[in-house]
Amino acid sequence: MKKLPILSLLLVVVTGSIVSCSDVKREPSRNYMPDMWQSRAYETYAPHKNLEDSQIHYTNMPVSGTIKRGEIFPFPLKRDGVGDSSNYIGSKQIVNPLPMPDTLRLKESERLYLIHCGICHGTKLDGNGPLYKDGSGPYAAKPATLVGDAKYENMPEGQMFYSITYGKNLMGPYGSQLSTTQRWQIIHYIKSKQAKSVPKTDTAAPDSTATAAK
Ligand code: HEC
Repeated sequence: MKKLPILSLLLVVVTGSIVSCSDVKREPSRNYMPDMWQSRAYETYAPHKNLEDSQIHYTNMPVSGTIKRGEIFPFPLKRDGVGDSSNYIGSKQIVNPLPMPDTLRLKESERLYLIHCGICHGTKLDGNGPLYKDGSGPYAAKPATLVGDAKYENMPEGQMFYSITYGKNLMGPYGSQLSTTQRWQIIHYIKSKQAKSVPKTDTAAPDSTATAAK
């Protein structure tokens, strides 16, 4: 008989704990540490309530006049206005700031060239990439024959840089796709290929004398 109160007490405790367990009281509306899940940061391109009424359009673009860490100095010449070519001509004076690349760097420059330029200028740099394909491709304009045409073989590196950065006639600009370093790297690659084509220019010489003799 003495056990009865103990047993009934145990019963009450067990039922009580079961009931309290099933009746879970959560308050999801309460928000401890809001910074943990509601970012206070200004996310790139995302609207932010603090900027709603302001004139600030947050694009995360670098502040003009600043240079990314590790990047070389930007090209000093701006794009020419319509009908003006003074900066295009002036760009001839600008030299490639990068040292001559080693084999590994040249391989990387080749990779960049093949991604961005080869489609038009061709893997052999002959201006006959798959987009042009001897004029039968979808791209109607003949890309410059970077190797094999004296005009482009003699083109100063600075002028190449100008055209790659701002575009030239039907060639689009590559200033936003490739960093300053990458553009100069690609020019090193083009120049290295042009240097190897010297014998070709020699073989072309008798042709020109033949034409002159005619
Ligand atoms: C969509 C095709 C296309 C792509 C891609 C392209 N080019 Fe061109 N490129 C052309 C055409 C077309 C011309 C000839 C423009 C003219 O003089 O009318 C040209 C001209 C050039 C010239 C001579 C510019 C001058 O001042 O006369 C250089 C140098 C050159 N391209 C380098 C490059 C490099 C480097 C890349 C890659 C970053 C590249 N191109 C990507 C089509 C292309």
